Amino acid sequence: MAYVIGVDCGTSGTKTVLFDEKGSVIASKTIEYPMFQPKNGYAEQEPLHWKNAMLDTIKAVVAESGADRSEIVGIGISGQMHGLVLLDKDGNVLRRSIIWCDQRTAAEVDEMNRIVGRDRLVEITANPALTGWTAAKILWVKNNEPEIYSRIAHILLPKDYLRYVLTGEFATEVSDASGMQLLDVPNRKWSDELLTAFDIDKNWLGKVYESCEVTGTLTRAMADELGLSPKTVVVGGAGDNAAAAVGTGVVQDGRAFTTIGTSGVVFAHTSAISIDKAGRVHTCCAAVPNSWHVMGVTQGAGLSLKWFRDNFCTDFKSAARVMGVDEYYLMDKAAEKIPVGAERLLYMPYLMGERTPHLDPDARGVFFGLSAMHTRQHMLRAVMEGVAYSLRDCVEVFREMGISTGSMMACGGGGTSQLWRSMLAELYNCEVTTAASKEGPALGVAILASVGTGIYSTVQEACEAIVKTDKVQTPDAENAKVYEKYYQLYRKLYPAMKNSFKELAEM
Ligand code: XUL
Repeated sequence: MAYVIGVDCGTSGTKTVLFDEKGSVIASKTIEYPMFQPKNGYAEQEPLHWKNAMLDTIKAVVAESGADRSEIVGIGISGQMHGLVLLDKDGNVLRRSIIWCDQRTAAEVDEMNRIVGRDRLVEITANPALTGWTAAKILWVKNNEPEIYSRIAHILLPKDYLRYVLTGEFATEVSDASGMQLLDVPNRKWSDELLTAFDIDKNWLGKVYESCEVTGTLTRAMADELGLSPKTVVVGGAGDNAAAAVGTGVVQDGRAFTTIGTSGVVFAHTSAISIDKAGRVHTCCAAVPNSWHVMGVTQGAGLSLKWFRDNFCTDFKSAARVMGVDEYYLMDKAAEKIPVGAERLLYMPYLMGERTPHLDPDARGVFFGLSAMHTRQHMLRAVMEGVAYSLRDCVEVFREMGISTGSMMACGGGGTSQLWRSMLAELYNCEVTTAASKEGPALGVAILASVGTGIYSTVQEACEAIVKTDKVQTPDAENAKVYEKYYQLYRKLYPAMKNSFKELAEM
């Protein structure tokens, strides 16, 4: 039997899963780490935390599996997109990584538009300049930390830094590289035009592969440390959303998924490139060769619920421990007791600004309609509903673009909540299905590794063999009607507050 490992370097932690070649979980381990927010709108993480978490989780799953080292043939790495990892010429990390939800780069976005022109940027990168994406962050370091900038020898994305740790190779792959805003997305290669315009040395960037291609093998030292063979290959892998697509079988037209992790994403596969000129949703290369995907992103999805939990529901933790259940399960049960619409309380999940559809780094979270009758339970339900409203915003843009989201899967931590899935089904007005495997991105990159090592010949063939569906959530017609009214009101709130958000940011 052959085995493959999938590593997912997320925002709340790194999850590593060892699968057999049929996609069954043999061993799984997650290690969490912090996110640092030194200023309002800033978000950073420590690459050393990612590295240690990856090494410790791989060691744990290898030990637990009892598999022979020669049988573990491949590793796929997935990770949070857009994060900036800077290394010096000796491979040392130069500063904390500025991660995907950081919003400090509004001035650099203006600079990019000035240098290249908004339309040309969209033509090349398939997306307008975005505050959370990597190119703007590189320019921010150049403008604000020239001493660090002068020592840059390598620029990597989070998962590609982990690839370097494992293999010593500086490489990336098309799905994650699309989110750097330096890739020619239609042609799947670095854009010399943009690199010249932004004065970024091409040698700083890794070689670009397709997601299922082999990018290297473990170094001898790594193989010894991890208890693996030095013949173990590391494939391109994918950004977490492109990886989740593979892990849920969203690898052909008409298929889509919604994931609620720290961020929330609505994602659809497209075999032809499709771009929203207004830039409200992102277009990136898919992890499947010769195809792309479109995704709408809400910045503070699971993050909103985690924020609410950490600040207002600390007692749930101890209760959950005593009862032997997950604290999010108890929070779900509490929110379930409140009717649809939270008795006229709405929440806007813009804790870290918002992308789809507003592209506004200054937007911030709002509870709208608070009354003295509202309790913590109402606020909890409103937080979950607000995230679902913001995901419906993404689906609206897809519908406008003529992209089908008819076959909708749900995944991520939030996708395990029956209550959240029912909100999505009723707001989208379609069935929402879960995958039998809960491993999402880790399974996706393990599938890519199984293609790269020749166990399967194409990503589609591997998905056919491995990905199975589970529960189907059908919308309740009455609830859908009530949600529709609330959603139409929700849509009016941001335009009414847009200028006030800006004013607040300038204080
Ligand atoms: C996608 C995005 C997030 C991160 C974190 O554009 O920024 O989904 O990948 O998971």
